[in-house]
Amino acid sequence: MCGIVGFSGTGDVVSVLLDGLSRLEYRGYDSAGLACLDSGKIWCVRRTGKVAELERAVRSAPLPAGAWASTGNGPAASVGIAHTRWATHGSPTERNAHPHLDCTGRIAVIHNGILDNYRSLRRRLEDQGHSIASDTDSELLAHLLEEGLASGKSLHEAARHAMSEAEGAIAMAAIAAEYPDCVVVARRDSPLLVGKEETFSIAASDIPALLPYTRNVVVLEDGEVAVLKGPKVELYDSEGNRTSPRFRKISWEAESPELGRFPDFMLKEIYEQPEAVARTLMSRVDAGNIVLDDVRIDPADLASISKVCAVACGTSYHAALASKYSTERWARIAVEVDLSSEFRYRDPVIDDRVLLVAISQSGETADSLAALRHARAQGARVLTICNVVDSSMARESDAVLYTRAGPEIGVAATKTFLAQLTATTLLGLYLGQQRKHLDTSQVAATIAGMQQIPDLLSRHLPRWDEEMSALADRFAETRDVFFLGRGPGYPVALEGALKLKEISYLRAEGYAAGEMKHGPIALIEPGVVVFVIGTASKTQEKVFSNLEEVKARGATTVLVIDSESRALAPESDFVVEVPRVDELLSPMIDVVPLQLFAYYMAKRRGLDVDKPRNLAKTVTVE
Ligand code: G6P
Repeated sequence: MCGIVGFSGTGDVVSVLLDGLSRLEYRGYDSAGLACLDSGKIWCVRRTGKVAELERAVRSAPLPAGAWASTGNGPAASVGIAHTRWATHGSPTERNAHPHLDCTGRIAVIHNGILDNYRSLRRRLEDQGHSIASDTDSELLAHLLEEGLASGKSLHEAARHAMSEAEGAIAMAAIAAEYPDCVVVARRDSPLLVGKEETFSIAASDIPALLPYTRNVVVLEDGEVAVLKGPKVELYDSEGNRTSPRFRKISWEAESPELGRFPDFMLKEIYEQPEAVARTLMSRVDAGNIVLDDVRIDPADLASISKVCAVACGTSYHAALASKYSTERWARIAVEVDLSSEFRYRDPVIDDRVLLVAISQSGETADSLAALRHARAQGARVLTICNVVDSSMARESDAVLYTRAGPEIGVAATKTFLAQLTATTLLGLYLGQQRKHLDTSQVAATIAGMQQIPDLLSRHLPRWDEEMSALADRFAETRDVFFLGRGPGYPVALEGALKLKEISYLRAEGYAAGEMKHGPIALIEPGVVVFVIGTASKTQEKVFSNLEEVKARGATTVLVIDSESRALAPESDFVVEVPRVDELLSPMIDVVPLQLFAYYMAKRRGLDVDKPRNLAKTVTVE
């Protein structure tokens, strides 16, 4: 995984690299490092922890005279590379942090991806006398470049050599003392973009790291190698032939969100949910109809699809699961839901009558991108629902339905989940309409229900905030929490548990309420807290019985219930009241108090809610 930046040209190289890293930190933050070329030598600084640690080290580094000194801010370098890491091979120590050097210390490499043939390659290189200093797979690329250059290859040929020897996903950037004004970059399966202006060129894993510097961007294709030489960019295709880079102008603005009155981004983003829903709905409903201009798939084709396959990871998977309940009900079409990492390996039955719906906040998640490519190769139409404009998944799809949640900084997804639920609801209604299973009055009624959601959320958020904060105080010593739901309440239960795990590091289990009796109920004993999603639904009575079952075994129960059902509900230790909405829209309401509960549990434990340990916002490895 990880974020990479490379720069060649005139400018304060170190500051550009550090700024780029801070914009890529969502891809991992367990260690960071940078390397520059100055006076024919590679200077490399690496630190464990976040980019801020690296910056502190770089700004105060006791480096040899002349190394960082000439600008006062950084070295007199004109090329450099930098990396923020999410560990795959090797623990997050300084030794395993990138950049990695070859045996001579004259080549430095950064890498995003995983080398699948790491073991055999490492053995081969060691047998040939290379001394490998880290536990990482990435370091091997430095030795492969060393091998290439030693055999007389030029820099770009050496990069091609490294790419051909190493299997798996690679986005890499390297500098070499013998090429004092060059950065070589290459990619296969991991994203990499190159931008250029009059005095420099720059490469990075993602557009936000480039936008402060340039809007002229080329997205490297698989197998391509580029050499950045000041403002010149030499591009080589996968066969090694020189080609012309196809720069295009990026029109969108870089947004840099401020915390404002909030202590962290997660809380801010929870409070931004009404707006995220409203913006995702905006201009997509008209006089009782769903208007999805972004779905550029012939309506006749949509009417004839035989099934929908939805793929996603993490929180987005829960949005996919929720969409199964609504789309099947509204469009009367089968919806298969897969974790993206499982999808292609189970050899799913796909043909040109399948609509693959890939859901992803970032649009870069490696497993989801691979699932999308797999389905596309089998002839499926692919529609991506994502938040990041121009992301890899967006670019590779037949159609894109953007969620308009705005940038999400907190690693644990909140507002983008609600925006995804909004988008999948729109899509479900649209399919229902196209397939003539819903009449205008049914669509209009559901739209009216959706349009109320932003206001309902705004009105209830302050009360839930207080209640969940108090509940977190009450459960300060709790270590085991269950979340139970049925129907659309099931993905809500899964998401409640995932939020709690991710940011508070507590053991939390989301379960289908009706399935508890087949095993997990054995875990229920006094001290275990069970949240039950009991809002109005087809199965509400059954959920109430499931609540009685855990109560009878000593659990402390928290019932999430809509105001109109409260009088009918069984006794529960705590109650969280939510407004009544259509069952199929209820996840958009019911999940919000659970997000706040996770938030306050993590805060009570003194944890960094925006950057939880071991996680990354965008996961670009399989
Ligand atoms: C990571 C993030 C999660 C996210 C998941 C899927 O694990 O920490 O918050 O739900 O990736 O990401 P995507 O960008 O595809 O929605």
